[in-house]
Amino acid sequence: MSLHVDLGTFQQKYKPMIEEAMIGFVREKAMPSTIKDAMIYSLEAGGKRIRPILLLAVIHGYGKDPQSGMKTAAALEMIHTYSLIHDDLPSMDDDDLRRGKPTNHKVFGEAMAILAGDGLLTHSFQLIAEDTLLPGESKITLMGLMARCAGPEGMVGGQVADIEGENKKLSVAELESIHVHKTGKLLIFSTLAGAIISGATVEEQNKLEKFAYHIGLAFQIQDDILDIEGAEELIGKRTGSDESKQKSTYPGLLSMKGAKDKLQFHFDEALDSLTGLSMDTALLKQIALLIVNRNH
Ligand code: IPE
Ligand code: IPE
Ligand code: MG
Ligand code: MG
Ligand code: MG
Repeated sequence: MSLHVDLGTFQQKYKPMIEEAMIGFVREKAMPSTIKDAMIYSLEAGGKRIRPILLLAVIHGYGKDPQSGMKTAAALEMIHTYSLIHDDLPSMDDDDLRRGKPTNHKVFGEAMAILAGDGLLTHSFQLIAEDTLLPGESKITLMGLMARCAGPEGMVGGQVADIEGENKKLSVAELESIHVHKTGKLLIFSTLAGAIISGATVEEQNKLEKFAYHIGLAFQIQDDILDIEGAEELIGKRTGSDESKQKSTYPGLLSMKGAKDKLQFHFDEALDSLTGLSMDTALLKQIALLIVNRNH
């Protein structure tokens, strides 16, 4: 595959491999069938797989074989999937539709949905630990970074602030901090993990982190916009969820026009951040474009 690949072709090639890496791993392990079914139900429910694709796209951009990041990419998507299962719980966003299917707790019950999330989270670390392609030192770095981005300093912390921000009028800075943590941090992990696996310098990593910071914000702003303007049959989740839970969102705080201006701003900043990188950034630009133009 030449470096100048189109994103559609790249996704077509790597999405099935990411899915096989996650689902195959869960399927082959011995565990009670209920949790296996519940974990696989959410893993198989589809989803754009944007985070693992971004991770592999960084490796591809550095001219390396994306296969070297496959287990890390699959682990990241398992963490993302767990976060969605828990995000939909009655005690959190209380949603009944996800990826076009009933949410995990609607099918397996709340206790099993919590455990399926716990299972995906812990299994994701096992997946990296058991990766035979990466050296031990890289795996330790990746697992530490993944914990930092996904845990209480990262995504989990963002979810806490999101819940505590319900029914409150937040400042734009507070809202930005929620978005950066609950959504941005996993995208930051995508780019940094790809860079670490490729052996990129710290300077290159910093540029990629900045890119991910901006596309992370853009991603969640578009998610908030789609919660109002999106079509349920395309996004695969109920619209109006944020409004009904009195969530702080960009359209809520800045008006729809203000939110769309912010989206454009972060897209422009993301592209700017790519300047001076030694890698081929064609796929990253296409991913940024996909994030701001997506309808699901
Ligand atoms: C939804 O993420 C949760 C957010 C962080 C906004 P995605 O929009 O990537 O969901 P899937 O994986 O495609 O279902
Ligand atoms: C969730 O944000 C981000 C996560 C860490 C799961 P949202 O609550 O807006 O995500 P959706 O709209 O339910 O996918
Ligand atoms: Mg939420
Ligand atoms: Mg939600
Ligand atoms: Mg949302």
